[in-house]
Amino acid sequence: MERLPGFRDFYPDPLPPGEPWSCDLRQHIFRCWRDTARRYGFREYDGPPLEPLELYTNKSGAEIVAQLFNFNDKGDRAVAMRPEMTPTVARMVARSERAYRKPIRWFSMPQLFRYEKQQKGRLREHFQLNCDLFGESDVSADAEMVALLVDVLRSFGLTPGDFVVRLSSRQAWQRFFAARGGAPERAYEFYQVVDKMDREAPEASSEKLRSLGVSLAEAQEFIAASIPEPELQAVLDNLEARGLREYVRVDYAVIRGLAYYTGVVFEAFDRKGEFRAIAGGGRYDQLVGQVSEGRVQLPALGFGMGDVVLAELLKARGLASPAGGGVDVVVLVEDESLRRDSLACVQRLREAGRSVDYSLTPSKGDKQFRRALDLGARFTVRLERTPEDALQVRLKDLRQRQEQVVEPERLLEVLPAV
Ligand code: HAM
Repeated sequence: MERLPGFRDFYPDPLPPGEPWSCDLRQHIFRCWRDTARRYGFREYDGPPLEPLELYTNKSGAEIVAQLFNFNDKGDRAVAMRPEMTPTVARMVARSERAYRKPIRWFSMPQLFRYEKQQKGRLREHFQLNCDLFGESDVSADAEMVALLVDVLRSFGLTPGDFVVRLSSRQAWQRFFAARGGAPERAYEFYQVVDKMDREAPEASSEKLRSLGVSLAEAQEFIAASIPEPELQAVLDNLEARGLREYVRVDYAVIRGLAYYTGVVFEAFDRKGEFRAIAGGGRYDQLVGQVSEGRVQLPALGFGMGDVVLAELLKARGLASPAGGGVDVVVLVEDESLRRDSLACVQRLREAGRSVDYSLTPSKGDKQFRRALDLGARFTVRLERTPEDALQVRLKDLRQRQEQVVEPERLLEVLPAV
């Protein structure tokens, strides 16, 4: 049986031939995501992986809706696997915002599902860090989210030479469109054309823009100039004060494909332009109102960062081999008459928080030792009997190539922390 196209198996390191996805790397990514979100005061939440289809059909925009994994469940409800987290978190906040002080800072790390054409950087499932802030319309919140995005990427050891956050503004584009007589109800159609401009043939974009009353040349000029509008200048100044200015650049080529964005929008890319977007987000001040049918109005903004492009970038920059996660001690049972004492030793080590492996059945000493090496263990521990029939422990540090013999009671005391 093969796995489905666009889905992944995550193996522990060392990876089997032809298997690119490491569960150790995934853990490392999750750890950095969680740690940085926590440093910014964000609290973790989660929601259901299956949602009513309707949550997406009129909120997310045509592209995501075309990619839904959706079906009718056994109760004949139209449902969809979540393709993104934003409608879910908007629904959760709309329902329970009174229980929380504003601004609400929340993060989540959901697995998401989109029926996309499988290609580099795009699969049919991915994990996505979502950080969102509710209840603040000041542009200082936009700057805070961009700073968080930058710091998440920095937490992996990525530098200004590795990535850049491209900042833009739907309001700037909305003003551009309105100044050319564009009708507000056609604004999203216009944004979608701009969003696809760098992927589509110029003739196709030109044709679509003309039908909206805009010429390709003036849209291109607007992008080439990318003069920061006041809201973007405020974000730049705020980031400057934090020493993070070099990580961002204003670029009106970014506009975002999703329907709900209303203000500052941004995307993170690798500097060399080798990969797809690492992350994307922006302000969406109407969505909470939309999902609650106008009951709750709360300004909101946030971003999503996928694990797929991030892992590719970390591998390409040599930042994907995090230490740890493996076995720390292997207890060698070379004398079966010492198995009971060895089990007691395994138990003591585990209770002390060490990660311990040992041979479950009798096996040759050299085979056990080879396994310790294969597992990348730092220490081996072997019980022995002295000529006087007392128990002693032979502790070997495989990295330092040192050995010492101690009484069993002193093992935890002499075993270095990892
Ligand atoms: P998005 O731009 O659709 O935004 O996705 C955010 C990131 O998720 C992308 O930059 C990419 O790294 C990753 N991603 C998306 N689709 C795939 C895929 N098929 N395979 C691998 N990675 C993928 C959103 O989803 C918004 N809901 C983000 C947001 C949160 N906006 C405000 N709050």
